Amino acid sequence: MRLRKALTAFWLCRSATADFQYRSRPDLSPPRLNITLPATKDVGTGYLFVAPFAGLPDTSHVQHGPRQAGPCIFRDDGDLVWSGYGYYSIWATNFQVVQWQGQAVLACFEGDHNPNYGHGHGHVTLLGRHYETVRELRAGRHKISDKHKFQAVGGDTALIQIYQPEARDLNAYGAETEQVWIVNAIVQELNIVTGEVLFEWSGLDHVSPDKSTLPVTKGQAGSGYNSSDAWDYFHINSYPKINGMDGSIIWRLGGKQSTFKLDKGVKFCFQHHARWLQQYDDVEVISLYDNSAHGSEANGDDGLHTAPTSSGKILELNTTSWTAELVQGFYPPDGLLSKSQGSTQVLPNGNVLVNWGSEGAMTECLPNGTVIFHAYMDSGELGAGVQNYRAHRYNWTGVPYEEPAVAANDDEYGTSVYVSWNGDTETNLWRFLGNTADEGEPYTLGEVPRTSFETVLSLPGKKVSRVSAVAVSEVGEVIGSTRVESRPDVLSDRIIASQVDGETERPLRTRKTGKNLV
Ligand SMILES: *[C@@H]1O[C@H](CO)[C@@H](O)[C@H](O)[C@H]1NC(C)=O
Ligand SMILES: *[C@@H]1O[C@H](CO)[C@@H](O)[C@H](O)[C@H]1NC(C)=O
Ligand SMILES: *[C@@H]1O[C@H](CO)[C@@H](O)[C@H](O)[C@H]1NC(C)=O
Ligand SMILES: *[C@@H]1O[C@H](CO)[C@@H](O)[C@H](O)[C@H]1NC(C)=O
Ligand SMILES: *[C@@H]1O[C@H](CO)[C@@H](O)[C@H](O)[C@H]1NC(C)=O
Repeated sequence: MRLRKALTAFWLCRSATADFQYRSRPDLSPPRLNITLPATKDVGTGYLFVAPFAGLPDTSHVQHGPRQAGPCIFRDDGDLVWSGYGYYSIWATNFQVVQWQGQAVLACFEGDHNPNYGHGHGHVTLLGRHYETVRELRAGRHKISDKHKFQAVGGDTALIQIYQPEARDLNAYGAETEQVWIVNAIVQELNIVTGEVLFEWSGLDHVSPDKSTLPVTKGQAGSGYNSSDAWDYFHINSYPKINGMDGSIIWRLGGKQSTFKLDKGVKFCFQHHARWLQQYDDVEVISLYDNSAHGSEANGDDGLHTAPTSSGKILELNTTSWTAELVQGFYPPDGLLSKSQGSTQVLPNGNVLVNWGSEGAMTECLPNGTVIFHAYMDSGELGAGVQNYRAHRYNWTGVPYEEPAVAANDDEYGTSVYVSWNGDTETNLWRFLGNTADEGEPYTLGEVPRTSFETVLSLPGKKVSRVSAVAVSEVGEVIGSTRVESRPDVLSDRIIASQVDGETERPLRTRKTGKNLV
C-alpha cells in the first residue's frame, strides 16, 4: 500500500509536466491554434497544412514557439488531424500535398536551419497516405538542397532550390580582396524516382551581383569573408521568368531591371512563393507573397520596410504594353509585417490563403480580399515567436499504418475511455468494446461519432477491466482497431509493487486470467 501511494505520487508529479491535450496520446503536444477570426462557411474545403517552429532562441525562463515543432494537419476549428512530430526530424518546413504517380503524397523539407541567413540544408521526404516514407529526394551534382522550393512538375519531376557558396572576385561590387564568397542561387529539376538532374539554372550565370539591393560591404546579406558568411546577393528582389531551354531570362518583374512598368500597388520587396496562375491573350497572371520587409529576427533589428504591412498579391502582366497591374491585394488583420518567409496560395474556389511567415499566422480571404479566417499558430507563451514558412489548404485522405491509440481513466463516477488515431481522416464512428472484471466475453460498451482528434466514451457507474475500440468508416466498414487495454485497477498491489521495484522485464500478468499485459 505504501508503494502504491508512492506510485500515485509519482504519477501526480509526472502529470504536472505533461499537458494532457490527449489522454490516449500523452506523447503529443501539438500547437494550439489561436483562432482570432473563426472560419466562415465560405472557406475552401480541405485541411490546413502548416509546420510551425520556434523562431526565437529560448531564453532561460520562457519557451517560445510550439513545444513540438513539426508538420501538422488541422481542421478549420483548430482540431488536430495529424501531428508529424517524429515523422519528420530536426527542422521540417514547406509542408505540402503534391501529386505524384497519380497519388496525393505529403512532401516536406527536413534538415538543418540557419536562421541568420534563412538557408536550409537537407532533403525533401515524401510520405504516402499511410504516412509511410515513399521517397527521399536530395539535390544532385554534389549540392545540398535548401528548404525554399519544392514544386512538383507534371507528376514525375520536381524543382528544388540550392544556396551554393562560390568563390569569385567581388572587387567590382565594392568588396575587399578577402571578400570572395558569394551565394549562387541554383534551381534544379530532378526526376523524383531516380534523383537525376534534368535541368539546372545558376543565378550567377544570369543575374549580375550589381543588381543586388543589399550591398556586400554592409554585411547585412553576408560579408563574403568565408563560405558560411557568403554574400547572399540574390535573395531575391525581382521575379524572373526563365527560358526552360537555355536558362536565359525572358523577363524580370520588379527590382532594378524590371521589364515591366509597375502600376500602383504592384511594387514588392523580399517576396516569396511567386506562382504562375494562368495566361490569357497577352496577359500572364501570377501570385506572390510580398514581405515588404527584410531583417534579422534575432537581434530586434528593424531592417528595411517598403510598405506598412506584408501582403498576398495577384498581379496581371501584360507582355504587349509591358505593364504590371495589381488584380487584388490580401492584407493582414493585425498589421502583420514579416521579415522572412510567407506564402500565398490561390485556392480552386478563388479564395486566397496567406501565411505571414515570421509572424506565425495565416489568413484566408475571399477573392475580393475580405478576411474570413485568421489564426495564430500557437497560444499563450508558446504563441510568442512562432514562425511558419508556408501554409496551404489541401484535400487529403489519411489512413495510418499506425494502430489507433486507446486509454481509460477511472474516477469516482466510473470509467472514461479515450481513443485517437493520428492522421486518420476516414473514421466516422468509434465502437468501444470491453467488459468489467466479473463479466465474461467483451461486448459493445457504446458507439460515439468521431467529432475531434480524440473521442471519449463515458461509462458512469461502471469500472471496466478491459477496453478496446474499432474505427468504423462512413459506409460501416471497420478500418482499424486498437489493442486491448487492460485496466490497472484489476491488477494486484503485488504486481504494481514489483513494477516499482524495477522488475519490469518480466511480463506482467493479471491475477485473474494470467494473460500477458505487455
Ligand atoms: C565567417 O566570417 C564571419 C564574418 O567575418 C565571422 O563572423 C565568422 O566567424 C566566420 N566563420 C567561420 C566559420 O570562419
Ligand atoms: C495588353 O496591352 C495592350 C497594349 O496596351 C492592349 O492592346 C491589350 O488589350 C492588353 N491585353 C489585355 C488582355 O488587356
Ligand atoms: C467581397 O465579396 C463578398 C462576397 O461576394 C461580399 O459580401 C462583400 O461585400 C465584398 N466586399 C467588398 C469589400 O467588396
Ligand atoms: C491570440 O492572439 C491575439 C492576437 O495576437 C492575442 O491578443 C491573444 O492574447 C492570443 N490568445 C492566446 C490564448 O494566445
Ligand atoms: C477538394 O475537393 C473538392 C471536391 O473535389 C474540390 O471542389 C475542392 O476544390 C478541393 N479543395 C482543394 C483545397 O483543393
